[in-house]
Amino acid sequence: MADTTLMEKLVSLCKRRGFVFQSSEIYGGLGSVWDYGPLGVELKKNVKDRWWRAMVHARDDIEGLDAAILMHPRTWEASGHVAGFTDPLVDCKTCKARFRADKLQDAQCPQKPSKHPGEHSTCALTEPRMFNLMFKTFMGPVEEQAAVVYLRPETAQGIYVNYQNVLNSSRQRIPFGIAQIGKAFRNEITPGNFIFRTREFEQMEMQFFVKPGSDDEWFERWREWRMAWHHSIGLTPARLRWHQHGPGELAHYAKAAFDIEYEFPFGWNEIEGIHNRSDFDLGRHQEYSGKKLEYFDQASNERYLPFIVETSAGADRVTLTVLVNAYREEEVEGETRVVLSFHPSIAPIKAAVLPLVKKDGMPEVAERIYHDLKQQFTCFYDDSGAIGRRYRRMDEAGTPFCCTVDGDTLKDGTLTVRDRDAMSQVRVHQDQLSAYIRERIA
Ligand code: GAP
Repeated sequence: MADTTLMEKLVSLCKRRGFVFQSSEIYGGLGSVWDYGPLGVELKKNVKDRWWRAMVHARDDIEGLDAAILMHPRTWEASGHVAGFTDPLVDCKTCKARFRADKLQDAQCPQKPSKHPGEHSTCALTEPRMFNLMFKTFMGPVEEQAAVVYLRPETAQGIYVNYQNVLNSSRQRIPFGIAQIGKAFRNEITPGNFIFRTREFEQMEMQFFVKPGSDDEWFERWREWRMAWHHSIGLTPARLRWHQHGPGELAHYAKAAFDIEYEFPFGWNEIEGIHNRSDFDLGRHQEYSGKKLEYFDQASNERYLPFIVETSAGADRVTLTVLVNAYREEEVEGETRVVLSFHPSIAPIKAAVLPLVKKDGMPEVAERIYHDLKQQFTCFYDDSGAIGRRYRRMDEAGTPFCCTVDGDTLKDGTLTVRDRDAMSQVRVHQDQLSAYIRERIA
């Protein structure tokens, strides 16, 4: 059963605390497009940084790339998106709503939400027609068919068309990978669930090029590594599971595919796909561009078209996942405490510095400590209101440590460091404070 209340509370917290706002809100908003506020941009950036570190910096066999959003239109013919990146769409002539014909059982009739579209007596659904999800625009001043370009619906193609450039300009040999984080656009018929399914989103994709025949083995390794990464950013293992694509579900390019799914308040849903794409992509780009994309393997003296194992996660979707996973409500001394228990490595603010009172020299000491810590990680200074209220504000922002300057700080240089989750407090000397926090946010 979908827990809509929890999602409503989360959406409201995200707006109130500056994680996520509706795009162009003063104009009434734009359907399923969202903006990240001061806390949200830090959270999402931390998710992307953790991914980049694990996929690029911590490995010797993956290179980074930042390809353009606009690509030669032939790219999308070769990839199969022009012909096949479609969903079946039906309109209701009565209420004018649009639905995916293959997802009617997941949708509600706008006139009678207890029924699915087509089930209410006044529903008048059209026959399904195929609708391409790519956004089109025009390159240059003339709006004609020859000038059509697309906003990329996935970042992967930018990697395939650059595969030889990266190979020739780096010291990589197969097996090796190329990783990229960037925007993708899909004109989804039924976006929704906040930032789960949107029309503009970011992907974190990695394409790993391997010798044909070794692909199954690499596929298994990548499945294991990707699940371990989701655990490493604090997602609860029991709320993650695998979903294997059956023959009817496999994308046109895939030899095998597994999704990592998370248990959201609205049910189990995909957050990342791991695909064995065989030599489909390089084969198609070779055919459509007329350029040879084969690899010469010096070790075995063979020439072949590499197979590709892809890992593809949504940065926004993972950000939603860490928000949902972190959200807790607890009863503390007769009051409800709302806390976002992020893994410290992805928390938008790592530490808050708070003078206990605004007198006796405490603000001056606290400000000095704050400016010092701020050089090393994201910090927040707050001297307004009762200390309990300030702790609660930081709990809602997901700040793992609150460092309070009090009377003893002035005497012996120690501060109270409060742990967000346990609410326990320890005294740490100001000289050891940054090391204490750094050790716990890695
Ligand atoms: N290159 C392969 C590919 O794009 P996909 O399963 O269509 O595969 C990969 O997308 C990931 O991108 C998904 O697991 C999801 O996290 C994210 N994603 C896809 N469509 C999205 C959308 N409309 N809104 C937000 N994230 C999306």
